[in-house]
Amino acid sequence: MTASMMHPRRRLAALAAVLVFTALATAAVPPADGTPHLRRQGTAMQLVVDGQPFLILGGELLNSSPSSREYMRPVWDRLVAQHLNTVLAGVSWELTEPEEGKFDFQLVDELIADARAHRLRLVLLWFASWKNGRSCYAPLWVKRDTARFPRLQFANGDRPELLTPLALGTADADARAFAALMKHLRETDAAAHTVLMVQVENEVGVLNDSRDHSAPAEAAFAGPVPAELMDLFVRHKDEIAPELRQAWEANGARTAGTWTEVFGAGKPADFVLTWDLPEPQRQTEWRKLHWPVDEVFMAWHYARYVNRVAEAGKREYPLPMFANAWLQQPGCAFPGTYPSGGPVPQVNDVWRAAAPALDLLGPDLYVPEFAELCEKYTRAGNPLFIPETSRGEDVGRNLFTAVGGFNAIGFSPFGIDLSFPPAVAATLPAAITAGAAILPENYEIMAQLAPLVLAHQGTGTITGFALDKEHPSFVTTLGGTTVEISLDDIFGRKAEKGYGLVMAAGPDEFIGAGAGFRVIFKSSASSTGRLGIGTVDEGRYRDGQWVRGRRLNGDDTDQGRAWRFSQWGGPVIQHCTVYHFE
Ligand code: DGJ
Repeated sequence: MTASMMHPRRRLAALAAVLVFTALATAAVPPADGTPHLRRQGTAMQLVVDGQPFLILGGELLNSSPSSREYMRPVWDRLVAQHLNTVLAGVSWELTEPEEGKFDFQLVDELIADARAHRLRLVLLWFASWKNGRSCYAPLWVKRDTARFPRLQFANGDRPELLTPLALGTADADARAFAALMKHLRETDAAAHTVLMVQVENEVGVLNDSRDHSAPAEAAFAGPVPAELMDLFVRHKDEIAPELRQAWEANGARTAGTWTEVFGAGKPADFVLTWDLPEPQRQTEWRKLHWPVDEVFMAWHYARYVNRVAEAGKREYPLPMFANAWLQQPGCAFPGTYPSGGPVPQVNDVWRAAAPALDLLGPDLYVPEFAELCEKYTRAGNPLFIPETSRGEDVGRNLFTAVGGFNAIGFSPFGIDLSFPPAVAATLPAAITAGAAILPENYEIMAQLAPLVLAHQGTGTITGFALDKEHPSFVTTLGGTTVEISLDDIFGRKAEKGYGLVMAAGPDEFIGAGAGFRVIFKSSASSTGRLGIGTVDEGRYRDGQWVRGRRLNGDDTDQGRAWRFSQWGGPVIQHCTVYHFE
């Protein structure tokens, strides 16, 4: 499903939600000095760098890679060869502030210098109070001092290496370090803008329990729901995610009270590990929502904490900032089997209310329901950025779906510096290894198209899609022309998969890219006649100029009946014109 495939009423509702979100988010006064920021274009939000829209063709490094310049030395060229334009790299609190108040930015400086030398941009990931729900990246002086930096407590009394988000003293220590980092970036990078955005913390949330049971958490849980959160339900109830609204309404739609009075009691018995269920039930259960009050409570407190850190950083240097989510996975339906309180779809509105300093919430998108999650992460006008995803066999399909179908500002497979020696690759499934070969050709095509894609996002003239047996075709309207896009079918062989994007460049002119699909032109708002294929050319964009290759006709247009992208071979770019006849 793409925006352009939506029913007109839903598109209107989506636009209304976009406007409401704009009101909730921090006021975006565009900086005059070219500092990266987000800007609206139609229904899309785009990242603007040096005054121009920018599409992040990214990749996230393995966690430890950026902690050593030596280790990274041979990696940079491999990143360039994959046609990345941006690298996502962790910057840790432990190495930035190894002793309290003593900051060390050498690694950051080296990272920026080496990225610049390879004409790459950076998105920095602030691994600080939490990384994957745990607190392993906090400096030792924080970990050791459990009195000053208290731990979260499980219901069974255990206090693992997990900082509680209810300790604002910890938030302030984290915020001081983060502000120092942002100040340093302003002083060293505000002219070049090598660093585009910053992720604040990483995949926060409680694991192994659904909420914090430490004394301050218990006290807060027994108290009233904060007025700022209640306000979301009072003033914006028509715009919030249906699952959040239903949970609130199911409990009487109360506009004041304690957490359990407003959101229901939540039963400890609900907290069941999904993998304890029998297999058939496990497969269906994970997609249902099981999120008692605990998840809303933790979402509020994590988001407030992250907001405090982000605000401190923005005061120094207001780069776009975001939080990423570890999503519910098959077999892990219940908060606590995935981090409870992280920015997952059912509590994204809570995050938006609690953390206005964040510009977006991003999914770490490893589940197969790629488009479904993209849709959830574009609700309420959230700009789509995918900081992590797998580099498997669907990586090209997912890239085109996100960028063309959901106006993504960027895409970034995880473990981009991982290379598989042939002997190892031979032992691994293609789902894991295939993307290493597939990503570069897709990024290469997307890089050629980026200026055009960015010009079309949010204007109703672009669609991006992935087709398969379950979703073999769809009809959409692009700039007044209605088209049917389906799996290609030629010489008696129907493609099993197809993907790509199509843009209406003018009334009778189209640009497309991808493989394994065909386009039939159904009708045009500009005439009552039928539409025929005028010309189809394949080609490339070189320095923004179209360089024509073969003129495609005959079998390559199914004898003039379809604009085709072959199922044999990788993705290609084509231009197509149509003509009208009676
Ligand atoms: C998600 C995390 O955010 C990453 O930093 C990394 O640990 C991956 N998981 C590993 O799969």
